[in-house]
Amino acid sequence: MARNMLVKGSGAYVKDIDGREYLDASSLNLTCGYAVPEIAHAVGEQASRLHGYDLSVATHDLAGAVAHRVAALMPPQLSRTLLTNSGTEGVEAALLIAGMYAQLRGEPRTRVVTLDCGYHGSTVLTRSLSGLPHLAHPFRRPLPVTPVSLPLPAREMRRPEALEPMLDAVRRALAEDPEQPPLAVLIEPLLNVGGGVVLPERFLTSLRRECDAHGALLIIDEVSTGFGRTGRMFAFEHDQLVPDIVVSSKGLASGYAPIAAVSVKESVYDAFADDEYMGGLRFGQTSSGHALSCAAAIATLDLIERDDLVRRTERLGRTLLGELEAFLGTGGIADVRGLGLFVSVEFTEEEAAATTVAAAEHHGLLLRRQGRVVMAVPPLTSDESVLNALVERFADALEKTTR
Ligand SMILES: Cc1ncc(COP(=O)(O)O)c(C=O)c1O
Repeated sequence: MARNMLVKGSGAYVKDIDGREYLDASSLNLTCGYAVPEIAHAVGEQASRLHGYDLSVATHDLAGAVAHRVAALMPPQLSRTLLTNSGTEGVEAALLIAGMYAQLRGEPRTRVVTLDCGYHGSTVLTRSLSGLPHLAHPFRRPLPVTPVSLPLPAREMRRPEALEPMLDAVRRALAEDPEQPPLAVLIEPLLNVGGGVVLPERFLTSLRRECDAHGALLIIDEVSTGFGRTGRMFAFEHDQLVPDIVVSSKGLASGYAPIAAVSVKESVYDAFADDEYMGGLRFGQTSSGHALSCAAAIATLDLIERDDLVRRTERLGRTLLGELEAFLGTGGIADVRGLGLFVSVEFTEEEAAATTVAAAEHHGLLLRRQGRVVMAVPPLTSDESVLNALVERFADALEKTTR
């Protein structure tokens, strides 16, 4: 299908060049919706004051403010924040930090344990962290990766019975090569591109213990889940643990400008602070921590707080999950799962998923799709009327698919 040419948005809705309006339930970064006056004003005001500055030369007030605001949302141990432009760069920075930390401590390690169906970015290095077929590339792996396959089908992974097999798989991966002890485990708390997979409760808490037992760092990839999307500020908060590094991005500036944050434990940062060459964590691009992105991020964080969007997302997410669960068994739907406003509908056949997404678009609803899984991720500012419209349009699309 030809790509839509979108020209204008408002709230949860967006219009294409021909004036057709769509409810956008496809944009994981759209925390607050389209054309939010507070965010537009903050970006415009910043553009007329100080549009940006290369942070390797000097800093600006907003970069420090975002770093502090993100740190304040994390467990207190993760008090250091590095700003980058994208989730991909954030993951690369996290790995670089982990690797250099090990090196500076005199215990050089490079082997990373990841989930085979995880997704961590689009560069050669970050693609190499995943076993998803469409991420294959013609280069050799730039670092040793031990992939872990899900021990059960995606739709069974959230069950308590999945906990032990999942932990066993990770334990085997951690212990796999005693000559090359693991540097880190890198994991999404809810798998995005891998098919909206919800992991069993207490898995991350137990994973923390396994990492400690092997001297490995635990890096949580919150790029698609951070800033309220799953009904917690960060999805790892559904469990009880303190990660070593957290990478977040999409929701931070509500999609108004590119930005990502790498949150690092003070104890990891300390290894760099005294190092003559590193002198703190040095990683960045010319526009990292861009002032306009920072302005959008601060305005977004203000709105998340002012409108209590995290709690609201938890409540609305339960409603949306319940409404979509009602379609289980119809139109080839095999599972409905999710956390907060990150709800996934798994079809038995990929074709049915693709047809449903195309039909939904025809009915004015934009959805995401990964293989057999269709995802509904409306803005966190959605209200009941938006959810009702979403479910109605989904039902219309499904009817077309099954006819
Ligand atoms: C979990 C996860 N990590 C990393 C990335 C890469 O982020 P970006 O596209 O901003 O580079 C994504 C993007 O979808 C993601 O979902």
